[in-house]
Amino acid sequence: MKNILFVTSEAVPFIKTGGLADVAGSLPRYFNREKYDVRVILPRYLCMKPAYLEKLTYVSHFYMYYNGKNRYVGILTTVVDGITFYFIDNEEYFSGEKPYGDWFWDLQKFCFFCRAALSALPVVGFKPDIVHCHDWQSGLIPVLLKDSFRGGEFFRDIRSIMTIHNLKFQGVWNVPVIKQFTGLSDYYFTSDKLEAYNDGNLLKGGLVYADKITTVSETYAEEIKTEFYGEGLDGLIRARTNDLVGIVNGIDYTDFNPETDPHIRKNYNVDNFRKEKYKNKLQLQSEVGLPSDKSKFVIGIVSRLTDQKGFDLISCVMESLCQEDMQIVVLGTGDARYESMFRFYTDKYPDRVSANIYYSEELSHKIYAGCDAFLMPSLFEPCGLSQLMSLRYGTVPIVRETGGLKDTVEPYNEFSKTGTGFSFANYNAHEMLRIVEYAKRIFFNNKKDWNMIVERGMKQDYSWSSSARKYEELYDTLLK
Ligand code: ADP
Ligand code: GLC
Repeated sequence: MKNILFVTSEAVPFIKTGGLADVAGSLPRYFNREKYDVRVILPRYLCMKPAYLEKLTYVSHFYMYYNGKNRYVGILTTVVDGITFYFIDNEEYFSGEKPYGDWFWDLQKFCFFCRAALSALPVVGFKPDIVHCHDWQSGLIPVLLKDSFRGGEFFRDIRSIMTIHNLKFQGVWNVPVIKQFTGLSDYYFTSDKLEAYNDGNLLKGGLVYADKITTVSETYAEEIKTEFYGEGLDGLIRARTNDLVGIVNGIDYTDFNPETDPHIRKNYNVDNFRKEKYKNKLQLQSEVGLPSDKSKFVIGIVSRLTDQKGFDLISCVMESLCQEDMQIVVLGTGDARYESMFRFYTDKYPDRVSANIYYSEELSHKIYAGCDAFLMPSLFEPCGLSQLMSLRYGTVPIVRETGGLKDTVEPYNEFSKTGTGFSFANYNAHEMLRIVEYAKRIFFNNKKDWNMIVERGMKQDYSWSSSARKYEELYDTLLK
């Protein structure tokens, strides 16, 4: 049996702000359980849903000297679908309204989390062969494994993997502060280690010290070797090319299944979507305050409203997108300017745009099921899960050809009758508008082809089954 520990700042069903939670919470279920014991450790946030907080059982606690004083480290646990989750408890650090918010505070809190997570392992008696770290919040772990945790019997030989879900966020502050929060010596703060552009950088630490690096699609693995996508670390990524692999994300095909989804009005599948799917459209329209009309071309957006997701392209041509035969349903929160942009257009065109500026698991499922198309024109996209959810629900993705979007959506070709969606290459608002209009033309004028696109999309397999095998192979190579 190989023991694997996922270290993450979020995981479904406990706490989620984005795709990282989906991955960290669902991937562990898809390993071969006879060979891999994959467990997950994350903070116990007070903002987790009360129903989940109540489920956690106390294991133990200890005090750990960190950043100037002795601090409480509680350990809790629960098992979901046979997967053991551990939680690090400390009310000072983890009692905010959201998992993240203030950079300075977040840095301190996740450096604490990394130390506490490793320190908790002998206490719970789980000795991982590999610690699999996700994003900057756990970037300190590979460094600690080669530093203060190197000596003892327990930690010796533990290997580490650093997975990049988003290179944009690196956990950066000036060197004295990062030195204080990490408790690392001067030795680590040179440009070949944790220092980058005169600052301390936690993700960089992970990328330098991890035994292997992965990211969440093959295309993104290539893109981050370039200056445009490399976020200042492309040199390091190029240097570690031989240890870098791109493994595309999957989604949980049980949670995201139009045939059984309890959140949607009418369940359907690839055989009967032609007759049944539109019932979800009618219900979605009335629920979000748009006229219920089967004949409109309805585009969905479920997203963090940030620059990454291409909202400046949408803002730029929003007026032209608000056409009479179209409706746009948005669900998301984020930058104030995008929130107000969508609110503005909802006021201006109440029968064409519906802005739902909040977080709702349930409405997201209704959008994946009820729309005709799903728009995701990202500036960069390490993988993207929303387009996979759309494919699964027969909602045709319209995406920019970057990162995981490029790897998972095959553009429609009207001559060869292939493709599962629509895509455009350049980060250009009018190029996006043209492709949306093209999709709309196919929707209205060539229903047969449209339905074939839907059908091909629904038949794609983006469950975890093949990607989990790739992680298993990676674990095996590392432990050879
Ligand atoms: P990212 O992780 O960059 O935000 P992904 O596409 O990988 O992008 O994952 C986003 C996940 O968050 C999807 O599961 C999506 O449905 C969900 N999501 C984003 N915004 C909301 C929201 N406002 N309400 C519900 N779910 C949301
Ligand atoms: C990040 C990326 C997204 C990816 C997700 C899960 O949030 O922005 O593209 O799907 O992580 O890996």
